[in-house]
Amino acid sequence: MAVVAVLGVGYVGLTTSACFASLGHKVIAADIDQAKIDALNRGVCPIVEDGLKSLITEGIANGCLTFVANNQQAVSGAEFVFICLPTPQGVNGVADTTIVQSVAEEISKFVGTNAVIITKSTVPVGSTVVIEHKLQRSDVFVVSNPEFLREGSAVFDFMNPDRIVIGSQSDVASNRVADLYAGINAKIVITDPASAETIKYAANAFLATKISYINAIAAVCEGVGADVLAVIDGIGSDRRIGSAFLQPGPGWGGSCFPKDSMALVKIAENAGYDFALLRGVIEVNKQQYQRVVDKVLSIRNNPRNEFTVAVLGLTFKAGTDDRRDSPALFISHQLRDRGVIVRAFDPTVKSDDSATDLAGFQLFDSMYDAVVGCDAIAVLTEWDEIRDIDPIQVAKLMKSKAIVDARNILDREIWQSNGFSYQGVGR
Ligand code: UDX
Repeated sequence: MAVVAVLGVGYVGLTTSACFASLGHKVIAADIDQAKIDALNRGVCPIVEDGLKSLITEGIANGCLTFVANNQQAVSGAEFVFICLPTPQGVNGVADTTIVQSVAEEISKFVGTNAVIITKSTVPVGSTVVIEHKLQRSDVFVVSNPEFLREGSAVFDFMNPDRIVIGSQSDVASNRVADLYAGINAKIVITDPASAETIKYAANAFLATKISYINAIAAVCEGVGADVLAVIDGIGSDRRIGSAFLQPGPGWGGSCFPKDSMALVKIAENAGYDFALLRGVIEVNKQQYQRVVDKVLSIRNNPRNEFTVAVLGLTFKAGTDDRRDSPALFISHQLRDRGVIVRAFDPTVKSDDSATDLAGFQLFDSMYDAVVGCDAIAVLTEWDEIRDIDPIQVAKLMKSKAIVDARNILDREIWQSNGFSYQGVGR
């Protein structure tokens, strides 16, 4: 059992804190947001993550998990300090580590001898060295330990990783961090800091590449009259390709892929390489958002006539309430800005939600209310609730029967047999 401090209580920091506590470590998690800390100490979980709330409650109850609003207090006495702080996209496209660096300076006098500072936030390659310089502590180790947590399954991913990556110049420090994960059965990749930092970007960029690739193949399928689902089955059966992350959709989004893919282009550029392939992946993704907007607008007969669309799904994917860089939100904004009347439903959005990113939308707590009187439906996020919507009931409620299934989650034949014109992605 170790004493672990976690700085930053966002979805990575909170998941890391709760999971390490469940592994038996004594965890003190710190954040500058006092209200968030107070809510957490009352057992309130601020984010939608499957299994997280119960882990927090359990950790608080058995004394393994506490939350404080003071970094110095959290690190005093800690053997390990995880940095899970925000690294937003900087003006030059590379992740901005200002917060990480300032916290490193803040805690440098409070961290104990032989402590290990572990960067879990996604930081530019070379940041481990920068943090060492900020700390100015030769008796403290700095290690890179990037996260590979998907929003909506962060707890599962933490407890069931495909691999744990640890980057350090010190084998002693690497092994000490590896020991923290005892009880988790996974391959441990121990390497140098730059390689560990590069692994994180290379992984996310490859996943984004896979998605942009299948979205491009879907566009080809639409042109040649092929069915992308059959193509996915045919290529995904090749064990060298696999069918994971090969589902066409409205494009990729979220708080990671857009930021990390652009950051890697810039990191490469700064290192003397023009990453044209990844720039193409990003361009294809932008085009995919527009392709879905165009599919919806193609239903409108006359741009001068009123055109009402029900958008089903606003988050960047199912299983989370996160709308940061959400393709669904971008597409809905594009429709709204083109004069379309947008009636929106998302399981995580209440009809009285006044968030600014929802301005101009009519919000509904029920899908069936959202579709009333609509000329078309746009399925933008793959919530099971949306997958199960009843075409017979919907057909009675709409003004005309047209649907754009941007996630290919509906049964095309059933909707067509109920009189709907159906557009999928790649089929
Ligand atoms: C991602 C990485 O998966 C994770 O390992 C990393 O630590 C953080 O970034 P996340 O951003 O939570 O996780 O979402 P993810 O599940 O990867 O989906 C990213 C985007 O790709 C979403 O918009 C999703 O809808 C889209 N996607 C995913 C597809 O369009 N098709 C797919 O087959 C899979």
